[in-house]
Amino acid sequence: MSTLNDLLKCSFAALALVAAGVSGNVLAGLVPGQFAADYVWRDTDGNPIDAHGGCVLFHDGTYYWYGEAKIGRTFLPDCNKSWGGTRVDMAGVSCYSSTNLCDWKSEGLALSPVTGASSDLNSSNVVERPKVVYNRNSKRFVMWMHIDSADYHEARLGVAVSDTPTGPFKYRGSFRPDAGVWPINVTDADKAPGNGKYLVRDFQNGQMARDMTVFVDDDSRAYVFYASEENSTMHVSLLTDDYLKTTGRYSRILIGRNREAPAAFKHNGKYYLITSGSTAWAPNAARAAVANSVFGPWKELGNPCIGPNAEKTFSGQSSFILPIAGTSALIFMADRWNKWDLAHSSYLWLPIEFDGDDRPGVIWRDNWSLSMANTANVNHHTSSDTE
Ligand code: GAL
Repeated sequence: MSTLNDLLKCSFAALALVAAGVSGNVLAGLVPGQFAADYVWRDTDGNPIDAHGGCVLFHDGTYYWYGEAKIGRTFLPDCNKSWGGTRVDMAGVSCYSSTNLCDWKSEGLALSPVTGASSDLNSSNVVERPKVVYNRNSKRFVMWMHIDSADYHEARLGVAVSDTPTGPFKYRGSFRPDAGVWPINVTDADKAPGNGKYLVRDFQNGQMARDMTVFVDDDSRAYVFYASEENSTMHVSLLTDDYLKTTGRYSRILIGRNREAPAAFKHNGKYYLITSGSTAWAPNAARAAVANSVFGPWKELGNPCIGPNAEKTFSGQSSFILPIAGTSALIFMADRWNKWDLAHSSYLWLPIEFDGDDRPGVIWRDNWSLSMANTANVNHHTSSDTE
Protein backbone atom coordinates (compact mmCIF):
# COMPACT_ATOMS: atom_id res chain seq x y z
CA MET A 1 0.00 0.00 0.00
CA SER A 2 1.32 3.44 -0.81
CA THR A 3 1.92 6.01 1.86
CA LEU A 4 0.73 9.57 1.82
CA ASN A 5 4.24 10.64 0.93
CA ASP A 6 4.22 8.38 -2.12
CA LEU A 7 0.98 10.01 -3.21
CA LEU A 8 2.30 13.49 -2.71
CA LYS A 9 5.26 12.63 -4.90
CA CYS A 10 2.94 11.29 -7.57
CA SER A 11 3.04 13.75 -10.44
CA PHE A 12 0.37 14.24 -13.06
CA ALA A 13 0.34 15.45 -16.59
CA ALA A 14 -2.71 17.59 -17.00
CA LEU A 15 -4.10 15.69 -19.94
CA ALA A 16 -3.37 12.27 -18.60
CA LEU A 17 -2.19 10.50 -15.54
CA VAL A 18 1.30 9.14 -15.85
CA ALA A 19 0.16 5.93 -17.37
CA ALA A 20 1.76 2.62 -18.19
CA GLY A 21 3.52 2.81 -21.51
CA VAL A 22 3.01 6.53 -22.00
CA SER A 23 5.87 8.81 -21.17
CA GLY A 24 5.23 11.97 -19.21
CA ASN A 25 7.32 13.94 -21.70
CA VAL A 26 5.03 13.03 -24.56
CA LEU A 27 2.04 14.19 -22.60
CA ALA A 28 3.68 17.38 -21.45
CA GLY A 29 4.06 18.37 -25.11
CA LEU A 30 0.29 18.84 -25.46
CA VAL A 31 -1.23 22.25 -25.83
CA PRO A 32 -4.20 23.09 -23.60
CA GLY A 33 -7.38 22.97 -25.61
CA GLN A 34 -5.95 20.55 -28.13
CA PHE A 35 -8.38 17.72 -28.79
CA ALA A 36 -7.10 14.91 -26.66
CA ALA A 37 -8.45 11.97 -28.59
CA ASP A 38 -4.98 10.64 -29.36
CA TYR A 39 -3.96 10.61 -25.74
CA VAL A 40 -5.27 7.85 -23.57
CA TRP A 41 -4.91 6.94 -19.94
CA ARG A 42 -4.10 3.25 -19.67
CA ASP A 43 -4.79 0.67 -17.03
CA THR A 44 -2.14 -1.73 -15.75
CA ASP A 45 -2.89 -4.10 -18.66
CA GLY A 46 -2.16 -1.32 -21.12
CA ASN A 47 -5.81 -0.86 -22.15
CA PRO A 48 -7.41 2.61 -22.28
CA ILE A 49 -9.26 3.44 -19.07
CA ASP A 50 -12.97 3.37 -19.83
CA ALA A 51 -14.71 5.18 -16.94
CA HIS A 52 -16.42 8.36 -18.07
CA GLY A 53 -18.65 10.77 -16.15
CA GLY A 54 -17.37 8.99 -13.09
CA CYS A 55 -16.13 9.32 -9.55
CA VAL A 56 -13.40 7.95 -7.30
CA LEU A 57 -14.14 6.39 -3.90
CA PHE A 58 -11.40 5.85 -1.31
CA HIS A 59 -12.02 2.80 0.86
CA ASP A 60 -9.65 0.86 3.13
CA GLY A 61 -6.51 2.25 1.52
CA THR A 62 -7.63 1.77 -2.08
CA TYR A 63 -9.04 4.20 -4.63
CA TYR A 64 -11.89 2.89 -6.82
CA TRP A 65 -12.63 4.73 -10.04
CA TYR A 66 -16.13 4.10 -11.41
CA GLY A 67 -17.47 5.44 -14.67
CA GLU A 68 -19.53 4.90 -17.78
CA ALA A 69 -18.13 2.17 -20.00
CA LYS A 70 -18.33 3.55 -23.52
CA ILE A 71 -17.41 0.96 -26.09
CA GLY A 72 -18.44 0.41 -29.67
CA ARG A 73 -19.56 2.78 -32.33
CA THR A 74 -21.09 6.17 -31.82
CA PHE A 75 -24.53 6.54 -33.38
CA LEU A 76 -25.30 9.77 -35.16
CA PRO A 77 -28.32 11.86 -34.17
CA ASP A 78 -31.66 10.42 -35.18
CA CYS A 79 -33.51 13.19 -37.02
CA ASN A 80 -36.85 11.60 -36.12
CA LYS A 81 -36.22 11.95 -32.41
CA SER A 82 -36.67 15.10 -30.37
CA TRP A 83 -33.16 14.79 -28.95
CA GLY A 84 -30.51 15.23 -31.60
CA GLY A 85 -27.25 14.13 -29.99
CA THR A 86 -24.79 11.30 -30.57
CA ARG A 87 -24.81 8.19 -28.35
CA VAL A 88 -23.26 4.80 -27.80
CA ASP A 89 -25.04 1.70 -26.60
CA MET A 90 -24.94 1.58 -22.81
CA ALA A 91 -22.12 -0.77 -21.80
CA GLY A 92 -22.41 -0.66 -17.99
CA VAL A 93 -20.38 0.91 -15.21
CA SER A 94 -16.72 -0.01 -15.06
CA CYS A 95 -14.46 -0.06 -12.01
CA TYR A 96 -10.69 0.33 -11.62
CA SER A 97 -8.64 0.16 -8.43
CA SER A 98 -5.41 1.87 -7.43
CA THR A 99 -3.41 2.54 -4.30
CA ASN A 100 -1.42 5.41 -5.76
CA LEU A 101 -3.81 7.15 -8.22
CA CYS A 102 -1.33 6.39 -11.00
CA ASP A 103 -1.56 2.64 -11.60
CA TRP A 104 -5.15 1.56 -12.24
CA LYS A 105 -6.10 -2.11 -12.34
CA SER A 106 -9.25 -3.02 -14.22
CA GLU A 107 -11.82 -4.66 -11.93
CA GLY A 108 -14.25 -5.22 -14.82
CA LEU A 109 -17.86 -4.07 -14.77
CA ALA A 110 -19.32 -3.10 -11.40
CA LEU A 111 -22.77 -2.90 -13.02
CA SER A 112 -23.50 -4.74 -16.26
CA PRO A 113 -26.08 -4.13 -18.99
CA VAL A 114 -28.92 -6.66 -19.17
CA THR A 115 -30.76 -8.03 -22.17
CA GLY A 116 -34.41 -7.54 -21.11
CA ALA A 117 -35.91 -4.82 -23.28
CA SER A 118 -37.97 -3.45 -20.40
CA SER A 119 -34.96 -3.00 -18.11
CA ASP A 120 -33.34 0.36 -17.39
CA LEU A 121 -30.05 -1.46 -17.92
CA ASN A 122 -30.83 -2.55 -21.45
CA SER A 123 -28.04 -1.32 -23.73
CA SER A 124 -30.52 0.80 -25.70
CA ASN A 125 -30.95 3.06 -22.65
CA VAL A 126 -28.71 5.58 -20.90
CA VAL A 127 -26.76 5.04 -17.66
CA GLU A 128 -24.62 8.07 -16.88
CA ARG A 129 -22.56 9.74 -14.15
CA PRO A 130 -22.40 6.81 -11.68
CA LYS A 131 -21.44 7.91 -8.17
CA VAL A 132 -20.56 5.37 -5.49
CA VAL A 133 -20.60 6.08 -1.75
CA TYR A 134 -19.97 3.85 1.25
CA ASN A 135 -22.62 3.60 3.95
CA ARG A 136 -20.97 3.12 7.33
CA ASN A 137 -24.12 1.78 9.01
CA SER A 138 -25.03 -0.87 6.47
CA LYS A 139 -21.38 -1.38 5.41
CA ARG A 140 -22.63 -1.43 1.84
CA PHE A 141 -21.59 0.45 -1.27
CA VAL A 142 -24.37 2.42 -2.91
CA MET A 143 -24.25 3.53 -6.54
CA TRP A 144 -26.46 6.38 -7.76
CA MET A 145 -26.73 7.18 -11.43
CA HIS A 146 -28.69 9.02 -14.10
CA ILE A 147 -31.04 6.62 -15.88
CA ASP A 148 -32.64 7.62 -19.13
CA SER A 149 -34.13 6.51 -22.42
CA ALA A 150 -32.04 6.95 -25.57
CA ASP A 151 -33.75 10.28 -26.23
CA TYR A 152 -33.31 11.45 -22.61
CA HIS A 153 -37.02 12.01 -21.94
CA GLU A 154 -37.23 9.76 -18.83
CA ALA A 155 -34.80 11.78 -16.63
CA ARG A 156 -34.67 9.45 -13.60
CA LEU A 157 -32.33 8.50 -10.76
CA GLY A 158 -31.20 4.87 -10.45
CA VAL A 159 -29.76 3.06 -7.43
CA ALA A 160 -27.67 -0.08 -7.07
CA VAL A 161 -26.02 -1.66 -4.04
CA SER A 162 -23.13 -4.02 -3.32
CA ASP A 163 -21.34 -5.56 -0.35
CA THR A 164 -17.98 -5.08 -2.02
CA PRO A 165 -16.55 -2.02 -3.78
CA THR A 166 -15.93 -3.83 -7.05
CA GLY A 167 -19.44 -5.28 -7.24
CA PRO A 168 -21.29 -6.76 -8.96
CA PHE A 169 -23.79 -4.13 -7.83
CA LYS A 170 -27.41 -5.24 -7.57
CA TYR A 171 -29.71 -2.84 -9.38
CA ARG A 172 -32.72 -1.67 -7.33
CA GLY A 173 -34.52 0.37 -9.99
CA SER A 174 -35.07 3.99 -10.91
CA PHE A 175 -37.49 6.74 -9.99
CA ARG A 176 -38.30 10.42 -10.33
CA PRO A 177 -37.38 11.94 -6.94
CA ASP A 178 -39.43 13.97 -4.49
CA ALA A 179 -42.90 13.16 -5.86
CA GLY A 180 -45.72 15.00 -4.09
CA VAL A 181 -43.52 17.26 -1.96
CA TRP A 182 -42.51 20.86 -2.38
CA PRO A 183 -38.88 21.91 -1.88
CA ILE A 184 -38.01 23.53 1.44
CA ASN A 185 -37.45 26.88 -0.26
CA VAL A 186 -40.62 26.88 -2.40
CA THR A 187 -42.50 30.16 -2.74
CA ASP A 188 -46.21 30.69 -3.41
CA ALA A 189 -45.28 31.93 -6.87
CA ASP A 190 -43.34 28.71 -7.54
CA LYS A 191 -46.47 26.68 -6.78
CA ALA A 192 -48.69 28.53 -9.23
CA PRO A 193 -49.20 26.59 -12.48
CA GLY A 194 -48.09 28.12 -15.75
CA ASN A 195 -46.03 27.64 -18.85
CA GLY A 196 -42.53 26.43 -18.11
CA LYS A 197 -43.43 25.69 -14.48
CA TYR A 198 -41.76 22.29 -14.53
CA LEU A 199 -41.68 22.04 -10.73
CA VAL A 200 -45.48 22.22 -10.72
CA ARG A 201 -45.89 19.99 -13.78
CA ASP A 202 -43.79 17.24 -12.16
CA PHE A 203 -45.04 17.70 -8.60
CA GLN A 204 -47.27 14.62 -8.60
CA ASN A 205 -45.06 12.11 -10.38
CA GLY A 206 -41.63 13.25 -9.29
CA GLN A 207 -39.05 15.75 -10.46
CA MET A 208 -36.82 15.26 -13.50
CA ALA A 209 -33.27 14.16 -12.71
CA ARG A 210 -30.47 14.15 -15.26
CA ASP A 211 -26.80 15.04 -14.58
CA MET A 212 -26.17 14.24 -10.94
CA THR A 213 -23.67 13.68 -8.17
CA VAL A 214 -23.75 12.44 -4.58
CA PHE A 215 -22.04 14.25 -1.73
CA VAL A 216 -21.46 12.79 1.76
CA ASP A 217 -21.05 15.35 4.54
CA ASP A 218 -18.85 14.99 7.64
CA ASP A 219 -21.91 13.93 9.65
CA SER A 220 -22.44 11.03 7.18
CA ARG A 221 -25.57 12.60 5.72
CA ALA A 222 -25.63 12.12 1.97
CA TYR A 223 -27.22 14.37 -0.65
CA VAL A 224 -27.92 13.89 -4.32
CA PHE A 225 -27.59 16.93 -6.59
CA TYR A 226 -29.38 16.63 -9.93
CA ALA A 227 -30.20 18.80 -12.91
CA SER A 228 -33.99 19.11 -12.84
CA GLU A 229 -36.87 21.08 -14.36
CA GLU A 230 -35.74 20.43 -17.97
CA ASN A 231 -32.16 21.12 -16.84
CA SER A 232 -33.02 24.71 -15.92
CA THR A 233 -32.67 24.36 -12.13
CA MET A 234 -30.66 22.09 -9.91
CA HIS A 235 -32.18 20.23 -6.97
CA VAL A 236 -30.36 18.92 -3.93
CA SER A 237 -32.09 16.16 -2.05
CA LEU A 238 -31.23 14.53 1.29
CA LEU A 239 -30.87 10.74 1.16
CA THR A 240 -32.19 8.35 3.78
CA ASP A 241 -29.72 7.06 6.37
CA ASP A 242 -29.10 3.91 4.31
CA TYR A 243 -28.48 6.10 1.21
CA LEU A 244 -30.97 4.02 -0.80
CA LYS A 245 -33.77 6.58 -1.23
CA THR A 246 -34.45 10.29 -1.17
CA THR A 247 -36.17 11.60 1.98
CA GLY A 248 -38.41 14.20 0.35
CA ARG A 249 -36.39 16.99 1.94
CA TYR A 250 -34.93 18.96 -0.96
CA SER A 251 -34.09 22.42 -2.15
CA ARG A 252 -33.99 24.23 -5.50
CA ILE A 253 -30.60 25.80 -6.17
CA LEU A 254 -28.99 27.74 -9.05
CA ILE A 255 -32.55 28.50 -10.11
CA GLY A 256 -32.96 29.09 -13.84
CA ARG A 257 -29.18 28.90 -14.37
CA ASN A 258 -29.23 25.81 -16.66
CA ARG A 259 -26.36 24.08 -14.94
CA GLU A 260 -25.27 20.46 -15.44
CA ALA A 261 -22.45 18.10 -14.45
CA PRO A 262 -22.47 18.94 -10.71
CA ALA A 263 -19.36 18.15 -8.64
CA ALA A 264 -19.56 19.00 -4.93
CA PHE A 265 -16.96 19.29 -2.18
CA LYS A 266 -16.34 20.84 1.23
CA HIS A 267 -13.48 23.10 2.22
CA ASN A 268 -12.95 24.94 5.49
CA GLY A 269 -16.54 24.29 6.58
CA LYS A 270 -18.11 25.64 3.39
CA TYR A 271 -19.80 23.72 0.58
CA TYR A 272 -18.72 24.20 -3.04
CA LEU A 273 -20.24 23.12 -6.30
CA ILE A 274 -18.65 23.20 -9.75
CA THR A 275 -21.03 22.79 -12.67
CA SER A 276 -21.02 23.08 -16.44
CA GLY A 277 -23.45 24.80 -18.76
CA SER A 278 -25.92 22.81 -20.86
CA THR A 279 -24.42 22.18 -24.28
CA ALA A 280 -24.62 18.37 -24.51
CA TRP A 281 -21.16 16.85 -25.24
CA ALA A 282 -19.65 20.20 -26.23
CA PRO A 283 -17.49 21.96 -23.62
CA ASN A 284 -18.54 25.28 -22.13
CA ALA A 285 -17.57 27.49 -19.20
CA ALA A 286 -17.61 25.95 -15.73
CA ARG A 287 -18.97 27.91 -12.80
CA ALA A 288 -18.30 27.54 -9.09
CA ALA A 289 -20.72 28.30 -6.26
CA VAL A 290 -20.36 28.36 -2.49
CA ALA A 291 -22.82 27.91 0.39
CA ASN A 292 -22.90 27.62 4.17
CA SER A 293 -25.50 24.87 3.94
CA VAL A 294 -25.93 22.15 1.32
CA PHE A 295 -29.51 23.33 0.81
CA GLY A 296 -28.29 26.83 0.06
CA PRO A 297 -28.53 29.66 -0.59
CA TRP A 298 -25.67 29.19 -3.05
CA LYS A 299 -23.63 32.18 -4.15
CA GLU A 300 -22.10 31.98 -7.61
CA LEU A 301 -18.37 32.62 -7.88
CA GLY A 302 -17.88 32.70 -11.63
CA ASN A 303 -15.63 30.48 -13.70
CA PRO A 304 -12.98 28.80 -11.54
CA CYS A 305 -10.86 27.83 -14.57
CA ILE A 306 -7.82 29.92 -15.33
CA GLY A 307 -5.52 29.56 -18.32
CA PRO A 308 -5.76 28.96 -22.07
CA ASN A 309 -9.21 27.74 -23.11
CA ALA A 310 -10.57 28.32 -19.58
CA GLU A 311 -13.88 29.49 -21.08
CA LYS A 312 -14.32 25.91 -22.37
CA THR A 313 -13.08 24.23 -19.16
CA PHE A 314 -9.92 23.23 -21.09
CA SER A 315 -12.19 21.19 -23.40
CA GLY A 316 -13.58 19.31 -20.39
CA GLN A 317 -16.76 18.97 -18.35
CA SER A 318 -16.80 18.43 -14.58
CA SER A 319 -17.51 14.94 -13.31
CA PHE A 320 -16.30 14.77 -9.69
CA ILE A 321 -14.12 16.38 -7.05
CA LEU A 322 -11.82 13.81 -5.47
CA PRO A 323 -10.72 14.53 -1.89
CA ILE A 324 -7.38 12.90 -1.11
CA ALA A 325 -7.65 11.05 2.19
CA GLY A 326 -5.48 12.38 4.98
CA THR A 327 -4.79 15.67 3.20
CA SER A 328 -6.76 18.75 2.26
CA ALA A 329 -5.98 18.15 -1.42
CA LEU A 330 -8.84 18.04 -3.91
CA ILE A 331 -8.70 16.95 -7.54
CA PHE A 332 -11.04 18.32 -10.19
CA MET A 333 -12.00 15.41 -12.45
CA ALA A 334 -13.45 16.19 -15.87
CA ASP A 335 -14.38 14.41 -19.08
CA ARG A 336 -13.11 15.45 -22.47
CA TRP A 337 -15.95 14.12 -24.56
CA ASN A 338 -15.25 13.07 -28.12
CA LYS A 339 -18.73 13.69 -29.46
CA TRP A 340 -18.28 11.79 -32.73
CA ASP A 341 -16.42 8.89 -31.14
CA LEU A 342 -17.58 8.74 -27.54
CA ALA A 343 -15.60 5.59 -26.76
CA HIS A 344 -12.45 7.63 -27.35
CA SER A 345 -13.36 10.36 -24.91
CA SER A 346 -10.60 11.27 -22.51
CA TYR A 347 -10.07 12.76 -19.08
CA LEU A 348 -8.67 15.83 -17.43
CA TRP A 349 -7.59 15.99 -13.81
CA LEU A 350 -6.31 19.19 -12.23
CA PRO A 351 -5.77 20.23 -8.63
CA ILE A 352 -8.19 22.64 -6.95
CA GLU A 353 -6.24 25.62 -5.65
CA PHE A 354 -7.71 28.20 -3.29
CA ASP A 355 -6.88 31.86 -3.01
CA GLY A 356 -6.68 33.73 0.30
CA ASP A 357 -10.48 34.22 0.28
CA ASP A 358 -11.12 30.49 -0.13
CA ARG A 359 -12.22 30.90 -3.73
CA PRO A 360 -11.51 27.71 -5.63
CA GLY A 361 -9.47 27.82 -8.81
CA VAL A 362 -8.82 25.18 -11.45
CA ILE A 363 -5.62 26.51 -12.95
CA TRP A 364 -4.17 24.97 -16.08
CA ARG A 365 -0.98 23.11 -15.23
CA ASP A 366 0.93 21.10 -17.83
CA ASN A 367 2.30 19.02 -15.00
CA TRP A 368 1.39 19.07 -11.38
CA SER A 369 1.74 17.08 -8.20
CA LEU A 370 -0.67 16.53 -5.34
CA SER A 371 1.41 18.69 -3.03
CA MET A 372 0.24 21.68 -5.11
CA ALA A 373 -3.44 21.00 -4.58
CA ASN A 374 -5.11 23.31 -2.11
CA THR A 375 -1.90 25.14 -1.28
CA ALA A 376 -1.66 28.11 -3.63
CA ASN A 377 -2.39 31.41 -1.99
CA VAL A 378 -2.51 33.71 -4.93
CA ASN A 379 -5.52 35.89 -5.55
CA HIS A 380 -6.41 34.34 -8.87
CA HIS A 381 -9.85 35.83 -9.43
CA THR A 382 -11.05 39.24 -10.39
CA SER A 383 -14.25 40.73 -9.05
CA SER A 384 -15.73 40.77 -12.55
CA ASP A 385 -16.39 37.03 -12.51
CA THR A 386 -18.58 37.16 -9.41
CA GLU A 387 -22.34 37.19 -9.80
C1 GAL B 1 -24.29 16.42 -21.28
C2 GAL B 1 -24.23 15.66 -19.99
C3 GAL B 1 -23.68 14.28 -20.27
C4 GAL B 1 -24.56 13.60 -21.31
C5 GAL B 1 -24.64 14.48 -22.54
C6 GAL B 1 -25.54 13.90 -23.61
O1 GAL B 1 -24.82 17.69 -21.11
O2 GAL B 1 -23.41 16.33 -19.08
O3 GAL B 1 -23.62 13.54 -19.07
O4 GAL B 1 -25.85 13.43 -20.79
O5 GAL B 1 -25.11 15.76 -22.21
O6 GAL B 1 -25.59 14.79 -24.68
